[in-house]
Amino acid sequence: MAKIPVVMAGITGKTGEAVGKVIHQASDLRLVGAIAARHAHEHLGNRWNDETLDLSIVSDIEELAALAYAVLVDFTEPESAAHRIQWAVSHRWDIVVGTTGFSLEHRQQIEKLVNEHQVGAALIANFSIGAWFLERVAVEAGRFFDVGEVIEGHHVSKRDRPSGTAKRMASLLAESWRRQPEDIPVHSIRLPGLVAHQTVIFGGEGQVLTFRHDVHDRSAYGNGVVQAIRKVHEFRGRVVSDLGEVLKTSS
Ligand SMILES: NC(=O)c1ccc[n+]([C@@H]2O[C@H](COP(=O)([O-])OP(=O)(O)OC[C@H]3O[C@@H](n4cnc5c(N)ncnc54)[C@H](OP(=O)(O)O)[C@@H]3O)[C@@H](O)[C@H]2O)c1
Repeated sequence: MAKIPVVMAGITGKTGEAVGKVIHQASDLRLVGAIAARHAHEHLGNRWNDETLDLSIVSDIEELAALAYAVLVDFTEPESAAHRIQWAVSHRWDIVVGTTGFSLEHRQQIEKLVNEHQVGAALIANFSIGAWFLERVAVEAGRFFDVGEVIEGHHVSKRDRPSGTAKRMASLLAESWRRQPEDIPVHSIRLPGLVAHQTVIFGGEGQVLTFRHDVHDRSAYGNGVVQAIRKVHEFRGRVVSDLGEVLKTSS
């Protein structure tokens, strides 16, 4: 069976490198393009010390225009990602996006384009199965508690605050409590030594219930991304933001 071609944007980043290596190791996927900013023009095989990988890192997705089709995987930052996504979707590539911090306007624009061009899209704030499971149990607990707060902690170089995962958690709780997302307190911690951590804490009569998820190594996101790449074509015309939809449809 033909391998699914993948272009990875953010390949030299903390997350992109960890996820990129998982993609490279998957026997049904093939890395055909690599994008970064400061590290553009480096050779990826040399960078990873892997002779089997003959790929030069480029800075602009348009340099990959010779590719007929690929899945764009993006772990960068929202401004440049919005441009790449627009280019990829209008060339009828499917997209798997981990980048967080998009404005509402960017998100709506992506949804419109995905629908217009009938490509598949997964825009998922957290690709780790643990974070997804925390979301599920917290929503379930929210049926029995009516107050709760979210605490997220990340490394100091994280740009957006609160994290996309925490914003999503707050909006899911708000939805089940019929409140506005901004009514659910979200606390953000940025400290050296942290990678990505989320706690959801519920208060009740004489008791407190705490759920917590910790990512210590960014390879935690790899499996979710690989599964999304395999399935994204099935999401034609819409943007999936729940990892559960990817896992549910995975064979
Ligand atoms: N959805 C999830 O599961 C998940 C998990 C973790 C992180 N994230 C998100 O992923 C994103 C990246 O996080 P990170 O911690 O890995 O960041 P990072 O270490 O700063 O890496 C950023 C990457 O993006 C590249 N980049 C930056 N600006 C660019 C531009 N204008 N054009 C092309 N490439 C550009 C960088 O290239 P250079 O190295 O060459 O500068 C680098 O490869 C963030 O939005 C973060 O919130 C999502």
